[in-house]
Amino acid sequence: MIKKGIILAGGLGTRMSPITKSVNKQLLPIYDKPLIFYPLSILMLAGIREILIIVNKGQTNQFKKVLKNGESFGVKIIYKEQKSPNGLPEAFIIGEKFIDNNGVALILGDNFFYAQSLTKTLQEATKLNKGAKVFLHPVKNPKLYGIATIKNKKIISLKEKPLSAKSNLAVTGLYFFDKNVVKLSKSLKPSKRKELEIIDLLNKYRKKNNLSAEFLGRGGAWLDAGSIDDYYDTTSFVSAIEKRQGFKIACLEEIALNKKWINKKDLGESIKFYGNCDYSRYLKEILF
Ligand code: DAU
Repeated sequence: MIKKGIILAGGLGTRMSPITKSVNKQLLPIYDKPLIFYPLSILMLAGIREILIIVNKGQTNQFKKVLKNGESFGVKIIYKEQKSPNGLPEAFIIGEKFIDNNGVALILGDNFFYAQSLTKTLQEATKLNKGAKVFLHPVKNPKLYGIATIKNKKIISLKEKPLSAKSNLAVTGLYFFDKNVVKLSKSLKPSKRKELEIIDLLNKYRKKNNLSAEFLGRGGAWLDAGSIDDYYDTTSFVSAIEKRQGFKIACLEEIALNKKWINKKDLGESIKFYGNCDYSRYLKEILF
């Protein structure tokens, strides 16, 4: 059973410069809340309550200002800093003590997921005790992502940002790994772009027949808010759904209350903390 999760929220955000020169991308707003709320909500929906957030050097306090230690949404958050963006698998090396020889989930701080039955799929994924699991979603431009080729629902090859892709199935930024992940990450060598690559790590599992895939399907949305266009598409998506339905996506306190991780008194504290804003008004509606 996977009980721990890491959010990788560092990186230079160069594709979104100059906006990201002074602010970490993951703290920028996706419609009505910071981007980091969305990946955090995914871990919470999976039932994961022990969370490590990896941020850039010197940025811990910026994240703490809004998320604190997670208590107000019934989770325990600790923070670690990454000196420079040396690649996604470095998360497991930085997080070795936190992982403490257990299985762990990793979600990228700029990834947005919204799909029917997602909670059920996520909770199933936490049952993994051997190997690794990835979530695949079709994309129009495979050159920008890690891409999986599939045969009989099994991954037969994985390539990072292939120039000519045989498939349009992107490996999304949500991964579940067994306890071998730290050891395997340490054995990786930096790629041509001088980073440890998540695809190389996944290939180690695949070669041992230990990699499984879930398909998010056409009915779901997966967006990587890492470029200006995708960032605004994500904001438009959230705004359209929230205005139409009246429900908020990634309202952390609502998820925690539904899971009985917090009570209505805790919710009252959050309303005070956020002050007079639309997010607080939504929390008040839940309260009364
Ligand atoms: O979004 C899914 C894709 O994410 C996958 O399909 C690719 O296989 C995977 O390599 C990754 O590709 P990106 O090019 O989108 O990764 P990027 O460098 O943009 O980093 C993703 C997030 O992780 C971003 O929020 C910054 C953060 N990050 C990245 C690196 C390399 C860190 O915090 N530290 C790092 O060292």
